[in-house]
Amino acid sequence: MADWRQALHLEPPQGWLNDPNGLCFFHGLYHVFFQYSPGSADGTSAKGWGHWQSPDLLHWTFTGEPLLPDTPWERNGAYSGCAVPCGEVLRLYYTGNVKHPGPYDYIHTGREANTLLAETPDGIHVGPKQRLMASTDYPADCSLHVRDPKVWREADRWYMLLGARSLQDAGRVLLYRSADGLAWELARVLEPAPAFGYMWECPDHFILDGRRWLSVSPQGLPHGETENQNQYQSGWFALNGDLETGTLSGFTEWDKGFDFYAPQTLQAPDGRLLLIGWMGMPDADYRNPTAALGWQHCLTLPREIEAGPDGLCQRPLRELDALADGQPLALTAGQTLALPLPFRLRMTADRDFTLTLAGGLRLERDTGAGRLTLRFDDEALGGGRTLRRAVCGEGPLTVDLVADRASLEFYCGGGTTVFSTRFYPADSTIPVAVQGADATVQPLRPMTFAIEE
Ligand code: FRU
Repeated sequence: MADWRQALHLEPPQGWLNDPNGLCFFHGLYHVFFQYSPGSADGTSAKGWGHWQSPDLLHWTFTGEPLLPDTPWERNGAYSGCAVPCGEVLRLYYTGNVKHPGPYDYIHTGREANTLLAETPDGIHVGPKQRLMASTDYPADCSLHVRDPKVWREADRWYMLLGARSLQDAGRVLLYRSADGLAWELARVLEPAPAFGYMWECPDHFILDGRRWLSVSPQGLPHGETENQNQYQSGWFALNGDLETGTLSGFTEWDKGFDFYAPQTLQAPDGRLLLIGWMGMPDADYRNPTAALGWQHCLTLPREIEAGPDGLCQRPLRELDALADGQPLALTAGQTLALPLPFRLRMTADRDFTLTLAGGLRLERDTGAGRLTLRFDDEALGGGRTLRRAVCGEGPLTVDLVADRASLEFYCGGGTTVFSTRFYPADSTIPVAVQGADATVQPLRPMTFAIEE
């Protein structure tokens, strides 16, 4: 029988989830907030923040919806934002979305984007809200699309990034600085020339390997055969130079699969940089059949991000090793095994290979064409997802697959190319076959998800 409740991924008990928000480690716990519409599986009901916490990224407790859209500044949603530890509290910075009823285009008229602040001692109880900035405070050449604050502290300064769309329909980020995290002044507008998409959502900034990096989710990039194949993209730039004057390198997509958007990073207490994305895609034409069961979407696994010679690479979080259930199994080339979900599969292929899952999904390498392809041949299995491609070079290629009950994350080439996708197998034990290489499969135990509202 199908069981599409995930065993390794955070998903809402009911209703709709989109972006991860407020990722942090605070007072001994990891906190993962997220965009949450508990009242509808299609995301049309009121949107606030849901909250999970965990001591170890393996045992999770859902504690409800701490941030509700309950002031006039956020009448149409408590939108995305971040959490910054500050003494005994977490400061939650986020966007209050307001849409006025009327004949508006909601780009230049009819919308407000308020930068709001609330404090919480525990991620569960949230104090009074303050408005730090209103739409009239942003640069005059911005449209009304300004949102998703990412705030951090450096030395004795506070910084904030906001994603924005200019009046000329160019994606940009606004960098603000502050002495106290309350009163903000504009430091710069980062906008490549020529324009790179019409809107940038969910900016993030981190320092890795002594360099600064900027992650954004641009909308409006031209689609290519191996690039920007989804409706919208998410990716990173290196920031060459310092924050207030540096320039952006070329853009690299975080993920080449069907379902990845609006990621954020957090720093684990041991120094690792972890990335979590929404395993979904706004305005996509493919389906998630869990919606008919009352919930939709999940987050990706936390991924460990490292800087390599050619940029950033991603690996599944190492905590997953603790979920190993028994000995690894050998899956030799040409063989098919029936495997209960969840599991992890690893292989190294020197040449062309095909990995087939659940009869209707293939990851294929065509060395001649220099391509890696993820292809659904079964409409129901993919919920309408079809084909995604990535460029791959010659020589040995590693694949590290984390297969959950309704999602797959393929970390290829040492984590330089990742494909994330939802899938909806008819049974929670699936046939797995590989041609062209041998693989090793590690059965996994589920994580623990408790609900304490
Ligand atoms: C990205 C996004 C954000 C916004 C949020 C609303 O998916 O559109 O820009 O804050 O979702 O839920």
